[in-house]
Amino acid sequence: MTSQETDLDRRFVLAKAIAQEAGAMALDYFNRRDSLVIETKRDPQDVVSIADRTVEKLIRERVEATFAGDGFLGEEFGHTAGSSGYTWVVDPIDGTAPFVSGMPNWCVSIAVLHGNEPVIGVIGAPCHNELYAAAAGRGAKLNGRVLTLDPTRNVRNAMTGIGANSHVAPEVMADIIIRLLQAGGTFIRNGSGALMLAYVAAGRLVGYYEPYMHAWDCLAGYCLVKEAGGWHHPFPVEGERLTRGAPVVAAGPGARADLERLAGLA
Ligand code: IPD
Ligand code: CA
Ligand code: CA
Ligand code: CA
Repeated sequence: MTSQETDLDRRFVLAKAIAQEAGAMALDYFNRRDSLVIETKRDPQDVVSIADRTVEKLIRERVEATFAGDGFLGEEFGHTAGSSGYTWVVDPIDGTAPFVSGMPNWCVSIAVLHGNEPVIGVIGAPCHNELYAAAAGRGAKLNGRVLTLDPTRNVRNAMTGIGANSHVAPEVMADIIIRLLQAGGTFIRNGSGALMLAYVAAGRLVGYYEPYMHAWDCLAGYCLVKEAGGWHHPFPVEGERLTRGAPVVAAGPGARADLERLAGLA
């Protein structure tokens, strides 16, 4: 490290290294998934295994070893408050359902908040050999290539990601899909909301909407989208709200108005 490197840079370097290490560990579990015991949480579609828990433990250990004063929120083991002003918000495996079903659409998602701002977003997709990385004011990159969004793309000439879970009524989801199709759009759901947000940052999808997600699902993707030149709806992270769910909406610059309309924000 040089003296020019800031607290943010040091955490950014660590976040990328952890995403690689945690991704390799998750990939090892993925390659022997037939031996995993699959447990359920809220409902039978909401699955989890030892892979999710062990990967989160690894990430926590790595963060604590270098930044013991940082806060930490992970999907599997909850929130530990810190004293430094930085909080790591981690989904060890986003896309557990595809993961246990043998599909490659899953990722390790690591965000860092400074105060209430997501200032680092790193998403590793080991099955695709892809590492998405962004930090505030430093741009977004995919495997080192700078991501810049095309303002001519909108819901009518590109695909939109839609996510659903049992927090949201089927009728509400059906209505969202109907309205998107009526607006001339089309939708994708790959089972990993975090990865679909990374795809928005990469210009593969023009937007993403899921009516109820958690901070660990979206903050890394939000940082990536913003740094690539896109827009996202603010996610409430103040105090107790950090651990609660909220709507997640993101778009490239040409699709913001479309996504705001779809999400009932405009
Ligand atoms: C889920 C995935 C899914 C989304 C759900 C999330 P998990 O996260 O991102 O795509 O629709 O709302 O809970 O449980 O696989 O980490
Ligand atoms: Ca989960
Ligand atoms: Ca998730
Ligand atoms: Ca997860």
